[in-house]
This record gives sequence, structure tokens and C-alpha cells, in this order.
Amino acid sequence: MPTTTIVPDINGLRHEHYNATVTLRRQVHDELVILRVRPDGGVPTYEAGQYTTLGLGYWEPRASGCDDEHLAEALETRLVQRAYSISSPILDEHDRPVRVNELGELEFYVVLIRHGEVRTPALTPRLFALEVGSRLFAGPHPKGHYTLAPVKPDDHVIFLATGTGEAPHNAMLGELLARGHRGRILNVVSVRNECDLGYLPTHRRVESLWPNYRYVPLTTREPRNVDPVHPQFVGKLRLQELITSGQLAEALGRPFDPQSCHVFLCGNPAMVGIPKDEGGQRIYPQPTGVIELLERIGFQADRPGQAGNIHFEKYW
Ligand SMILES: Cc1cc2nc3c(=O)[nH]c(=O)nc-3n(C[C@H](O)[C@H](O)[C@H](O)COP(=O)(O)OP(=O)(O)OC[C@H]3O[C@@H](n4cnc5c(N)ncnc54)[C@H](O)[C@@H]3O)c2cc1C
Ligand SMILES: NC(=O)c1ccc[n+]([C@@H]2O[C@H](COP(=O)([O-])OP(=O)(O)OC[C@H]3O[C@@H](n4cnc5c(N)ncnc54)[C@H](OP(=O)(O)O)[C@@H]3O)[C@@H](O)[C@H]2O)c1
Repeated sequence: MPTTTIVPDINGLRHEHYNATVTLRRQVHDELVILRVRPDGGVPTYEAGQYTTLGLGYWEPRASGCDDEHLAEALETRLVQRAYSISSPILDEHDRPVRVNELGELEFYVVLIRHGEVRTPALTPRLFALEVGSRLFAGPHPKGHYTLAPVKPDDHVIFLATGTGEAPHNAMLGELLARGHRGRILNVVSVRNECDLGYLPTHRRVESLWPNYRYVPLTTREPRNVDPVHPQFVGKLRLQELITSGQLAEALGRPFDPQSCHVFLCGNPAMVGIPKDEGGQRIYPQPTGVIELLERIGFQADRPGQAGNIHFEKYW
């Protein structure tokens, strides 16, 4: 018996599911992009540091050079959605700090995942095929507890991120600057290579304008990090080493103590190192993450119902 293939009505599906438009696409490099999205109904109210979802239909094309996808028929008309922290340009064209809800658009900072160890990456290969004017789904209700709620005006704020984990910190930074935050703000971002620092010029500009702000980018895979005969060899410096060597405290320029500091950790879950509480014992994962190192010197990570001074968001 002949079989009939039902071809999905792609325009109809887009019309049914999409509620936002891409308004800006700044390609940092082939695998890193800053996207701005305008929701049809306007930007929902949210707090700096929160995330929302982005979604595209499985029917959309994928960027080249990514794992092949073998799609089950049931998925062909469905959306794939993932969580994304809402980032920020930090400063406007007049060097004024940008507050959340002021921009009229949502900014996202996304790395392309070409290969997945556990599953075929579904969304980023499709997000990277978008252009200005493309339509997509944006979750209408940003959420999350990774915000500035616990920070008081004189507290010192330390942002530690890997890769695109700096996105929520950019939104929080704009907000702190706009509020006239009086404590110090130290922002450390660990990336593989210098080209992965998508907001570097803006951070340098903020440093030049706000004396209480310091930006410390760390690379781990440049020749000077990995080639012992390189004339400027410094070795691989990850966030953990920055803490244990005392360089983090030095960069803060103030006592790095739990009474006056809030630490925000975002990105690679192995860097964060979320512990479990089992049988009255705190069990830390291996390899050693930042939470373990900070709790050894008196900081406390947030726990359900118990706010600490280490706040964290893991991306996978
Ligand atoms: C609360 C929250 C906020 C997030 N915010 C961002 C963001 O602002 N920017 C962003 O790029 N991603 C962010 N992510 C990750 C995002 O949700 C997707 O997982 C990611 O974009 C990959 O989607 P995918 O469908 O292509 O692959 P997936 O199948 O979702 O992921 C495949 C694998 O890629 C790796 N991976 C996923 N995300 C990253 C990343 N950001 N950096 C390095 N490796 C990664 C992991 O090994 C993961 O198992 C966030 C995740 C959460 C939970
Ligand atoms: N296993 C995988 O398949 C795998 C793993 C990671 C990333 N990737 C892919 O590579 C692309 C780029 O990712 P990315 O560079 O943005 O993110 P990333 O791999 O998380 O790296 C960002 C920074 O985090 C550092 N880092 C990694 N593990 C850490 C840990 N345990 N503690 C402290 N720091 C740590 C990295 O250092 P190092 O240079 O020392 O790693 C790097 O400086 C993505 O497509 C991602 O999917 C694949």
C-alpha cells in the first residue's frame, strides 16, 4: 500500500508558536553570538540576573558543522526550548548604565554547542541560523532566584563566571551601577581563549568610568597558558587557582570576607561544584569547585530556605 508523507505547514507552525523577533545579532565569532529579541507583547518585567526560555521548532534549519540530528517523527512539529540568562549591553550609547526593563528588548549571550556527549544539541545549532527579523519563541515569564536581592549598597560583589555565564552578571552590573552601588564590584570571567570575551571593550569602559569596578578576564587555552616554552608562559589559571593563590583577594583590594562580600557563580557546573547534604554531612563533588573553596574560608552557599553569601546558577 502506498504511504502518504504529511509535510508540516511550517508557516502555520511559526505563526502559531512564535511570539518574538530577533532585532540584533552580533557575531563575536563563529561559535559565540549576542542576540537581541523583541517580544511581540513588550518586554516582561524581570529582575537583573533572571533567565527566560528561547524556543524554535525542530522544523527549523541547523547551522552547518554540528552533530547530525535523527529526529523522531513526533518531534517534527514541536518546539525545542532552553533556558537563557538575560544579559545586558551594560552601558548605553551615552555611557549611562542600562537597567533591566529599560532596553525594550531582551539581550542574550549564547555559545554554539556543535557536539553533545549525552544528546544531540537541539537549540543552539538552530539559534545560530537566525538572522535579524527571524521569528522565535521567547518565554513570557522570566524567572529565577539568581538576583541582587541579598546585596546591600556597601557590600562587595564578586562575580565569577565561565564562558557565557557572564550573561546574568552583565544585567546585574548595569543595575548596580545605575543604583550607585558603593561597595566594590569585582568581575572575573574564565574563558578558553581571548576571542571568547564578547563584552571585553564594555567592561574596560566601565572600569575607566567607575573606580569601584574591576574586570579580570582569565584565559585557559591561549599559547601562554598551555605552552611552557612560550615567552609569556603563565600556565592555566582557572577560578579555583585564583582563590587559592590569594589573587582574588588581591584583585578585590578589600578584605575578602564573608561579612562584607557576596559571591555570584555562574556557568560550568564543575566550576560551581554544588555540594549535597547527606546524613548531616556536606559532600562536595570532584574535581573541587569554587563553593568548596569558599565554604572552607567561612562563606556559605545558598540552601533551600537558608540564604547564604554564595549564590549560584549552573548552566547544565
Ligand atoms: C538557568 C540557565 C541559564 C542559561 N543561560 C545560558 C546563557 O545565557 N547562554 C548560554 O549559552 N547557555 C545558557 N544556558 C544553557 C542553555 O540552556 C542550553 O543548554 C545551551 O544553549 C545548549 O543548548 P542545546 O540545545 O544546543 O544543547 P543541550 O543539549 O542543551 O546541551 C548540550 C551540552 O552542551 C554543554 N553546554 C550547554 N550550555 C553551555 C554553555 N553555556 N557553555 C558551555 N557549554 C555548554 C553541556 O555539556 C551540555 O550538556 C543556560 C542554562 C540554564 C539552566
Ligand atoms: N565535554 C564536552 O563535550 C565539552 C565540554 C566543555 C565544553 N564543550 C563545548 O565547547 C564549547 C565552548 O564552551 P565554553 O568554552 O564556552 O565553556 P567551558 O568549556 O565551560 O569553558 C569556559 C571556561 O571554563 C573553564 N572550566 C572548565 N571546567 C572547569 C572547572 N571544572 N573548573 C573551573 N573552570 C573550568 C574552562 O577552562 P579549560 O580551558 O581548562 O577547560 C574555560 O576557561 C561549547 O560548545 C561546549 O559545548 C564541550
